[in-house]
Formats: sequence, structure tokens, C-alpha cells
Amino acid sequence: MAATEAPELLTPADAPACQPLSDEAGWNQVRADWAMMLAHGHAPGVREDGRPVASALALPMGGRIGWISMVLVTAAKRRQGIAQRLVGECIDWLEAQGMAPHLDATPAGQPLYTRMGFEGICGLTRMIGDGGAGRGVAADGGARNGEVPEQVRDAGGADAEWIAALDAEAFGADRGHVIRDLLSRPGALALVRPDRTGVLLTRAGRTATQIGPVIAPDADAAIALIEAALARVSGPVMIDCFDDHPAIRAALEARGFTVQRPFLRMARGMTTQSGRPDRMFAAAGPELG
Ligand SMILES: CC(C)(COP(=O)(O)OP(=O)(O)OC[C@H]1O[C@@H](n2cnc3c(N)ncnc32)[C@H](O)[C@@H]1OP(=O)(O)O)[C@@H](O)C(=O)NCCC(=O)NCCS
Repeated sequence: MAATEAPELLTPADAPACQPLSDEAGWNQVRADWAMMLAHGHAPGVREDGRPVASALALPMGGRIGWISMVLVTAAKRRQGIAQRLVGECIDWLEAQGMAPHLDATPAGQPLYTRMGFEGICGLTRMIGDGGAGRGVAADGGARNGEVPEQVRDAGGADAEWIAALDAEAFGADRGHVIRDLLSRPGALALVRPDRTGVLLTRAGRTATQIGPVIAPDADAAIALIEAALARVSGPVMIDCFDDHPAIRAALEARGFTVQRPFLRMARGMTTQSGRPDRMFAAAGPELG
């Protein structure tokens, strides 16, 4: 596509063909992520010989916010203005419906998004490390400071509605379609506090298990959820921690986690974080908020 041509919309049937785009960038998404986002979002893209070679995706979250992600251009097609054009299309689509565009930018993406009118809202840090399953971590999830393991239990199907409501309150927008999809994935671990004040979800990724969102009444409760999850997950793990809660990063560093990269959460038309940032300890991921 020349930068002036209209993009085409990608559909859920394009999920397998989109996977090479995120693989090429070294990203963590699997086909289930593409399928869910394409089913619920607006995805302008560019095809060559029928195959997607560039993408961007706007995912509505309630009526007020939309998340822009999957801004990907295959190497041979870069520096022609395609990404800027696809992001512009996502912005127009969201704003025409009254939704403020949000996104999590890598340092490389920030100058482009700043030029397009986005402002920083809060910082996140991606921590990477290993799960403890099979490595002799306490079966109670490494409960700290005398905290009892009863503070965490596995979620069941009957929990989906209150989890979605808790997430909407903490995140500040209704992304129940995302939460229900994550809960329904085979093998996904979902831990909750029985008093319905906290939840942690995981999803299998291409390179690592992503832990998030993590919602809890305070940092100690968030750490208890994370430790319980790490005791159950094996292999590489990534957690996108909000910089406003340094205790989470410190607890992960104490377990050998290291910083992979920062993200800056940015928005157009909003300058503050929605919801209850005091209760939101890890993001669902840069593509899901
Ligand atoms: C980041 C990415 C999406 C950019 O895609 P792109 O189509 O090359 O982006 P654009 O062409 O719109 O803009 C890229 C640069 O090319 C410049 N450019 C645009 N049209 C141009 C042209 N005709 N000639 C020369 N340069 C041009 C832009 O000004 C921009 O400059 P900058 O890097 O100094 O800001 C692409 O490199 C990619 O897929 N990277 C891996 C995934 C990633 O990091 N995604 C973003 C996550 S936040």
C-alpha cells in the first residue's frame, strides 16, 4: 500500500495469517490472542498477495475507552508511513464513537504517538523471570509473613461475572469480553481472593506465560496472589507491573526477576488513569490494557 491508499479491514479469519507479524517482532501473542482481538476489535491492515503485511487494532472497552495495539509492519514495508496511517485509522474509528484512544507504547513507539496527540498517563515495567512450579516452591504459594493460603483459591466458572465487575471497577472500563475470553482458555490459571477483592489471571504466550491483570486491595495481597501463581506456573513468565507500586517489582526482583523493558501508557483526550490505580498492580498486557 502506498501511504495514501485506504487500508483493508482484517477479520477473525485472518488470525493465523497475522501470527507471523507478531512473531517477526518477537512478541508474545498466540493465535487465541489474535482471534479474540480481531473478533472484538477494528483492525485496519495491509495485505500483499492476500497475506497481512501490516496491522493495527482498536479494541473497544466499554463506551469510553478503546485500546490500540498490534501496530506491526513487516520489515520490508517499513518507513513508508504505513504504521502512522493505520494508527490514525484506529484513532478516527474510536473517536467517532466517543472513545478515548489508549495504548501502551514502547520507547521506540513514543515519539510517533506523541506526534499523534497522545500523552503519557503512567509507567509500566515488564519483569521477566521463571515460574516456580517443579522447583520446590512451597505448595502454599510461598505464603509470606504468616499469610494463610486460604486467602487465594482457584476461580470457577461461577466467578466470571464478579471478576469482570471487579476488573471494570479497577481498570475503569468494561473489558468483560477480554476477561471472559482469558478465563475460558484451556489451561489458564485464574486465582481469586474468596472475599472477592482480588483476582489474578494468566495466559499462555508464545515466549512466556503472561501474568495479569492482578487486582488486589493492597500490595501485600497482590504479592500473595503473584506468589501463589508463580508456584503453579513453570517456565518463562512476564508481568507488566505498574510503576506506582514499586513493592511488586521489588518482590519479583527478590525472586530473580529482571527488567525487560518499560512501557508508557498513553491516551488521547484523557490525562489521568481511569478506575482504581491503587488496586491495579499488573496490566493484562500492552495489547489488552
Ligand atoms: C514501529 C513500526 C510499527 C513502524 O512501522 P512503519 O510503517 O515503518 O512506521 P511509519 O512509516 O509510519 O513511521 C516510521 C518512521 O518512518 C518515517 N517515515 C514515514 N514515511 C516515510 C517515508 N516515505 N520515507 C522515509 N521515512 C518515512 C516516519 O516519520 C517515522 O520516523 P521516526 O521513526 O523517526 O519516527 C514497525 O517498525 C514495526 O512493526 N516494529 C516492530 C513492532 C513495534 O515496535 N511496534 C510498535 C509498538 S509501540
